[in-house]
Amino acid sequence: MDEITNQNLKVNFKNKCDGIEMLKKIESNSLKAVFFDPQYRGVLDKLKYGNEGKQRGQARAALVQMSSETIINFLGEINRVLCPSGYLFLWVDKFHLVEGVVSWFKETSLEPVDMITWNKQKIGMGYRTRRKSEYLVVVQKLPKSAKATWTIHNIPDVWDESVKKEHAHSKPIELQKQLILAVTNEGDYVCDPAAGGYSVFEACKQTKRNFIGCDIEFGEE
Ligand SMILES: C[S@@+](CC[C@H](N)C(=O)[O-])C[C@H]1O[C@@H](n2cnc3c(N)ncnc32)[C@H](O)[C@@H]1O
Repeated sequence: MDEITNQNLKVNFKNKCDGIEMLKKIESNSLKAVFFDPQYRGVLDKLKYGNEGKQRGQARAALVQMSSETIINFLGEINRVLCPSGYLFLWVDKFHLVEGVVSWFKETSLEPVDMITWNKQKIGMGYRTRRKSEYLVVVQKLPKSAKATWTIHNIPDVWDESVKKEHAHSKPIELQKQLILAVTNEGDYVCDPAAGGYSVFEACKQTKRNFIGCDIEFGEE
């Protein structure tokens, strides 16, 4: 038990549970930073490649996918647990980026304030151009404020980092570390309610932040 959770929820632990249920155990207005990397259903519907279907596609298909309704429910809870001016770092794929994610924030006090392109330094699939990047939308809970909330000023908006695959969708630990350092202090809590390979947990360990997170498939009950 911890001061920001009103129920039994293990901190600095790989909790295997539903992310929305986990978020419900966290006090309102208590967190400065949440990372959210949804398991997009749209990608699987749209990527129907021959080879992809066999290996990487199978690993992805095995993961529990999220409908737009589920993503909106996550965002509602994330909006509740973030403190005023707190940050959500939302990973989006190319399809959702182009289609727009703003409608997901309609019922919340969340607003996109920036975006980072992650150059994965490895070429993937694509019918026209081939994927080499992913996108991180930086979202802030109102009131918007940059100076008082963001302390590192040399993070470029194109970030080059290759990753060691702990999970089909592993995200870059160094980038996530810089973002954590920019918006939180030592000992603060950082949340990831769909943690996959727990790259945010690793970033927390390396920056002395407390991790509060889970995955529906990965972790311990
Ligand atoms: C894109 S991956 C996250 C990858 C992670 N950012 C990393 O660096 O490894 C999305 C994860 O969401 C999980 N997931 C799907 N539905 C969930 C739910 N309702 N609650 C918690 N996790 C869920 C999947 O099991 C999958 O591991």
